[in-house]
Amino acid sequence: MKDIVQQILREAFEELDRANSDIKAIDKVRVKYLGRKGRLTELFKQLGGLPKEKRPEIGKVLNEAREQLEKALGDAIARAKTASLEVSGDFDITIPGRRPLVGRLHPITQTARDICQIFVQMGFEVVEGPEVELDYYNFEALNIPKDHPARDMQDTFYVSEEVVLRTHTSPIQVRVMEARKPPIQIIAPGKAYRCDSDMTHTPMFHQVEGLMVGKDVSFADLKGVLTLFVHQMFGPHVGVRFRPSFFPFTEPSAEVDIQCVICGGKGCRVCSYTGWLEILGSGMVDPAVFEMVGYDPEQVTGFAFGMGIERIAMLRWGIDDLRLFFDNDVRFLDQFF
Ligand code: DAH
Repeated sequence: MKDIVQQILREAFEELDRANSDIKAIDKVRVKYLGRKGRLTELFKQLGGLPKEKRPEIGKVLNEAREQLEKALGDAIARAKTASLEVSGDFDITIPGRRPLVGRLHPITQTARDICQIFVQMGFEVVEGPEVELDYYNFEALNIPKDHPARDMQDTFYVSEEVVLRTHTSPIQVRVMEARKPPIQIIAPGKAYRCDSDMTHTPMFHQVEGLMVGKDVSFADLKGVLTLFVHQMFGPHVGVRFRPSFFPFTEPSAEVDIQCVICGGKGCRVCSYTGWLEILGSGMVDPAVFEMVGYDPEQVTGFAFGMGIERIAMLRWGIDDLRLFFDNDVRFLDQFF
């Protein structure tokens, strides 16, 4: 009996092989062996006629044979279904999914927004200004006289005698002060342009300008606001230092350095082994600038600051090549979300 079962099983498998991916042929095999009058089914019916002591053993053999055949039939049908889907081009739910492409904000946009958000939380209002700017706002009103080196044709893109591509976002300060009365607390992100192109400079780059003007706004306010900004942007334990500097539109002026975020202040290539990184320029608004916009320097004081967004983005993510921001290689951009 055991041999008969094995023989029948062999034949069933051979027929299943021949049926290949033909669902109808596979089903014929099922009916022929496991149907109501199937060959294996018939053997089950004979179990009752066997001597009592033989029944358990043969029953087990038959059950195992049926299980094997049922599994093979199931597999064959699954394979046949997949094959037919591939041929017909229908949707195959067994193929692993493909991740949909999701757009992201450019890391410079993200950084600009994050910077602005920190100042918005401190009560600053986001404003913008024109990229094609009058010489007057870009230079003159910022106390940059006609013979100042920053006006050199080397640095400034001139559209005409009186019109330039703004070389910084500082002219927005002047436009806002001209249009409003103090108190003023604004933050202004945007593009700036300089005729400059090498490893660390691009002709177009991004800055954020800040301005706070009111009664009794002091250097202590400048230090407090900018220290809080650094701690929000880079972490609460990053050291900050204010270093005396010069800008035509602020007096006194200070550049702000942060402890090197790459080496933690120990000294490395990025910070030129000083442990410090310059991140922005700032100062108390020069009385000459207040006079240009019709404010009385005896009545109001204020501070201003400006920073490069590319630089902040490079430091926060440890990016060592400025050009990556402009290549627009999706493999690079995809990493920022
Ligand atoms: N405009 C300066 C630049 O492009 C940055 C700057 C320095 C802006 C000091 C300011 C400031 O508002 O007070 O380098």
